[in-house]
Amino acid sequence: VDRIFSGIQPTGTPHLGNYLGAIQNWVNLQEKCSSVLYSIMDMHSLTMPKEPAVLRQNILDTTAAILACGIDPKKCFLFRQSLVPEHAELAWILGCLTNVPRLLRLPQWKMKRASQNREGTVGLLTYPVLQAADILLYKSTRVPVGEDQVLHLELAQDIAQQFNKKYGEFFPVPKAILSTTKKIKSLRDPAVKMSKSDPQKLATVNIADSPDEIVLKFRKAVTDFTSEVTYDPTARPGVSNLVSIHAAVTGLSIKEVLHQATGLDTAHYKMVVAESVIQKFAPIRNEIKKLQEDKSHLIKVLEDGAEKAKELAAPIYQEIRRLVGFQ
Ligand code: TYM
Repeated sequence: VDRIFSGIQPTGTPHLGNYLGAIQNWVNLQEKCSSVLYSIMDMHSLTMPKEPAVLRQNILDTTAAILACGIDPKKCFLFRQSLVPEHAELAWILGCLTNVPRLLRLPQWKMKRASQNREGTVGLLTYPVLQAADILLYKSTRVPVGEDQVLHLELAQDIAQQFNKKYGEFFPVPKAILSTTKKIKSLRDPAVKMSKSDPQKLATVNIADSPDEIVLKFRKAVTDFTSEVTYDPTARPGVSNLVSIHAAVTGLSIKEVLHQATGLDTAHYKMVVAESVIQKFAPIRNEIKKLQEDKSHLIKVLEDGAEKAKELAAPIYQEIRRLVGFQ
């Protein structure tokens, strides 16, 4: 049977890309599968330095948002990564099976390093090894993520196979689960993905944005000089991104939303899409606010989840220790 694992960095409230690329799938999978783990990746987020107080707050805000989106701690284990230290311990073992050039080739290393205009830390380089450990510590089989994580998942697959070759068949090789909206683009530049770290404030729609902010961001969305609404991600990435978002938040097909857009020019269509996003996230936004008021509840959810995750990881990690010769 499948074991589902996924995670999100605590960068505060998630954006539309996080939601449509991953979180929406997480919610569906917790209904369908009996063993599901979702983690707030606080260790990963240290690779982009933050004030401790900011990190602390972001962890709670991300947790409130995940819960508001419909993640139910009764149906999955929702926990904080750093509360299960075996993630880091396994990462060490897996790091000893991973070649440095393999990590140097990954685009995230190149990009994040360049964007910080510095030489890059060991943590940033070995980030994907920790990610492999997250997944393999539970012998997970399926990983619901957005397209930008596919290369990291391929590394996890390689590492699992490397381990199996050296120590005997042990880890299942985990596979990605992608949503139909596996890559939501920036509203300011449809050539790049929507991202939390985008310096352009109008590029990224946060799921807790106010209706006014949502309208503004869609109004300023970069499209092209054709006013008709069509779907052609290669030739018209900007408009097509809006169509994808519209279809995903309304649950309609691309064909159906195009039909609804007949006769509208892109300027009017942007407002239709903004309205659909506002509708979709209004209840979630209210729920986030409510949940944020009860910090101790959020902390307890993450701790309880960590207890259960630890129980699941303990026998697996014990076996890993034996396999490598620590025991
Ligand atoms: P993170 O926190 O950047 O993103 C969380 C999830 O959102 C997806 N995503 C997107 N999907 C579609 N369009 C976009 N524009 C977009 N932006 C983000 C991501 O693909 C991801 O699924 N390294 C991971 C966290 C992580 C993890 C793991 C994930 C750590 N360990 C183990 C899975 C398994 C990350 O930084 O995701």
